Amino acid sequence: MASSSVRALRRGASACQAQALDFLVRGLPASRGVLDPYLDQHESSSGVRHAFNLATRGGTPLVVKTAGGLSAATGFIVTIFGSTGMLGRAVVNNLAKIGAQCMIPYRGLEDKPRHLKVMGDLGQIVPFVCNIRDDDAIRAAIAKSNVVINLIGREYETRNYGFEEVNIDIAQRIARISKEHGGIVRYIHTSCVGADENSPSKQHRTKALGEEAVRQEFPEATIMRPASMFGYHDKFLNRFATKAKFWPNVPTFFDGKTKVQPVCVLDVAAAFLAAVKEKEGIHVGKVYELGGPDVYTIHELLLWMFEVLREKPRIINIPLPLAEAVSRVREFFFKRVPVPLPQLWPCYRHYIDSLKVDQVVSPDALTFEELGIKPRPLGGLATEYLFYYREGGPHMGQFRL
Ligand SMILES: NC(=O)c1ccc[n+]([C@@H]2O[C@H](COP(=O)([O-])OP(=O)(O)OC[C@H]3O[C@@H](n4cnc5c(N)ncnc54)[C@H](OP(=O)(O)O)[C@@H]3O)[C@@H](O)[C@H]2O)c1
Repeated sequence: MASSSVRALRRGASACQAQALDFLVRGLPASRGVLDPYLDQHESSSGVRHAFNLATRGGTPLVVKTAGGLSAATGFIVTIFGSTGMLGRAVVNNLAKIGAQCMIPYRGLEDKPRHLKVMGDLGQIVPFVCNIRDDDAIRAAIAKSNVVINLIGREYETRNYGFEEVNIDIAQRIARISKEHGGIVRYIHTSCVGADENSPSKQHRTKALGEEAVRQEFPEATIMRPASMFGYHDKFLNRFATKAKFWPNVPTFFDGKTKVQPVCVLDVAAAFLAAVKEKEGIHVGKVYELGGPDVYTIHELLLWMFEVLREKPRIINIPLPLAEAVSRVREFFFKRVPVPLPQLWPCYRHYIDSLKVDQVVSPDALTFEELGIKPRPLGGLATEYLFYYREGGPHMGQFRL
């Protein structure tokens, strides 16, 4: 212990206060164990301030401890990559609610993370621009953190980013730099149900390789594999419902026989929170497959959706050769023309390939149950957003004219 903290102890300060002082004076502590955010949460009844109120690096306090809840500082300083997406929105909200400080690296316009700022107290949500191809930018993004969550992913390739780069290279880079950091006590990586090196879908193949790369760099990483997520901002039910509204029929492949296990985004975010908050490290190094309570074929799902929309089902099966021909034309021009091409959903390769195998939780996988969460079924509040696609407005059928 440094002489400054010995002097502080003699003056009657607690051991933790002494360690905090030690840390402030010397920068990094001799053992990072003293900055464990799991020591004590936001119970402030003891009135003691702990060393984990301080940044793990840099030597200056980032936040102060307060009474609990949103305004508390629980000692979790979490960098969330990919937080501007659908899942990120729910994950940041959950973390902010327990008083974690959220570092929000983002790309593009400064309005991108605007909706996240209001989820926490002043200074609790910290957005900053980050170039994910730059190691130093990632180092800066995680410098003060003790938890890292990587949510980066896309279900299609763009002209600038292919699946290999997004799902493997970026995942590996973040994991490697987090390991180098030395003070990351929880690392959570996001993959997807169906991630398999032998999958017909390139997205699922690269997700599997990405998991492997992350495990090599950061063996303690917890890997979350959500199934298709539904929620207010999803690109799953919203997409089907948009087609139901504007197209004569909703297209499917393989007669809609592919099985899916839709899961609510709020339940997936709850799983992330459980993995961060858990004190004993029982989720460390494990893979969780997060699916909803029910399995549907795409056809059944569409029938359910049309029922919610209060319309007669209009579903059309697209012959595979036709869809593949369209997708091949798009692929040919994809990087040959100087402008982004429309996705031509559903006739693009990755979507078609992903429907060739069922996207359901494997029987021997760890699931929500091990995380202590009961996932909610389709319907109710979680899918009320579909009402807005009703032909006669959201309240159609509720009033007599
Ligand atoms: N949605 C699902 O049904 C589903 C199912 C299984 C697994 N997952 C996985 O769960 C994670 C989150 O899904 P989501 O639905 O929240 O996705 P999303 O809404 O598309 O958001 C993806 C996030 O990743 C970021 N991102 C994507 N490509 C990037 C790149 N090249 N460089 C930097 N940032 C990039 C996006 O940033 P920008 O906003 O700047 O683009 C956004 O913040 C992903 O890894 C996804 O693969 C999703």
